Amino acid sequence: MVKIEKGPRAAAYPAPAALVSAYDENEKANAMTAAWISNICAEPSTVVVGIRENRYTFELVEKSGCFGVNIPNVAIAKETDYFGVVSGRDTDKFKDTGLTVFKGKEVNVPLINECPINIECKLIKQVKIGSHHAFFGEVLKVYYDEKMLDEKGAPDILLADVLAYGTGKYYSLKESIDAYGFSKRK
Ligand SMILES: Cc1cc2nc3c(=O)[nH]c(=O)nc-3n(C[C@H](O)[C@H](O)[C@H](O)COP(=O)(O)O)c2cc1C
Repeated sequence: MVKIEKGPRAAAYPAPAALVSAYDENEKANAMTAAWISNICAEPSTVVVGIRENRYTFELVEKSGCFGVNIPNVAIAKETDYFGVVSGRDTDKFKDTGLTVFKGKEVNVPLINECPINIECKLIKQVKIGSHHAFFGEVLKVYYDEKMLDEKGAPDILLADVLAYGTGKYYSLKESIDAYGFSKRK
C-alpha cells in the first residue's frame, strides 16, 4: 500500500456539518457551522465542539453557559454553509436564511426547527487547546424530527438525510452497510 505523508491537519472525517446555536443577552439567536464536533462520553451523555476564539458563537456560549447542536439535512445544505461563512456580529443569519428556532426546555438555548436532530446542552467544561477551545456540553435533551424514526420508533440517519462534511466538501449518506456488531453475527 502506497502511503503519502502530509503534515498535521484536520483529517478525521467525515464529520457532521452541525449548527451550534446560542442566544445573546437579549435572546437573539445566533448559530455557526461546526464540523469539529463529536459525542465524547456516555454517562453523562456529552458532546464536544471545537470553536475558534474569534467566533461570535464562542462569546455567546461562554456567556450563556449553554448551547445547542443541530444536525442539518441535505435540504438545508446551502443555509448550513451560509451559517459558516458569515458572522452573527455582522448579520442576523436566521433572518437571512429563513431558518427558525424553538426554545430548549432545560436551558435557555435556541434550537433549529429545520434540523432533524437537536441536542440541548449545558456547558460543563471549556479547555483551551490552541486556536480553538474544546467546549464540552452535557446533553440534557435530544429532539428528533418524527420523520427520521423508523417503524420501531428508532432514529435512522438515512431517514433524516443528514449532511456529512470532510475534505472541504459536503456529502449526503446513501446507504447503511450493516448494523453495530454485525461482524459477530452467526
Ligand atoms: C463546513 C464548515 C465547518 C466549520 N467548522 C468550524 C468548527 O468546527 N469550528 C469553528 O470554530 N469554526 C468552524 N467553521 C467556521 C465558522 O462557522 C464561521 O467562522 C462562522 O462565520 C462563525 O460565525 P459566528 O461569528 O456567528 O459565530 C466552519 C465553517 C464551515 C463552512
